[in-house]
Amino acid sequence: MSVTAVKTERPASTHPLSPMEIVETAIPEDERVWVPQAANVWFRPLMFNTLNGGWCNLLRVRKSGVLSRHLHPAPVHGFVLKGQWRYLEHDWIATEGSYVFEPPGETHTLVVDEDCAEMITFFNIAGCMYYVDEQGNSTGFEDVFAKIDMCRAHYTEVGLGAEYVDQFIR
Ligand SMILES: [Fe+2]
Repeated sequence: MSVTAVKTERPASTHPLSPMEIVETAIPEDERVWVPQAANVWFRPLMFNTLNGGWCNLLRVRKSGVLSRHLHPAPVHGFVLKGQWRYLEHDWIATEGSYVFEPPGETHTLVVDEDCAEMITFFNIAGCMYYVDEQGNSTGFEDVFAKIDMCRAHYTEVGLGAEYVDQFIR
């Protein structure tokens, strides 16, 4: 397990059972920190919550990128840092500075159109990403542990080491 879970010098104001805080430059300078998700789609881990089953990450999609159709069984909160995107199933567009709440039960397909070179959005995701086909049939899912495994495999491949992800796990 990560050294980040080990108590070292902590302020007196911090409860001894409190996990370590995480402070990160959200948009990394090292390109290798971005984990490939699909063609033209990457995620950058920020916090993996293994106790309530959820995670926070940045999603980056470059033009013509599509995130597979998926259902959320639990709520998602998003904040657009850069660019814009939309869901095929809705008629609104999330633009830079937009806050988006995705309620449980929502199924959608995220797309970034040709006129947007790149979008980056912060997402706080509870539960899992439940991927579905056109008929709504399950094609797989990703929970916090699947996301951690994806990071471990990628960080091993790019030379950061599997344990690089440990700093984001609580
Ligand atoms: Fe979603």
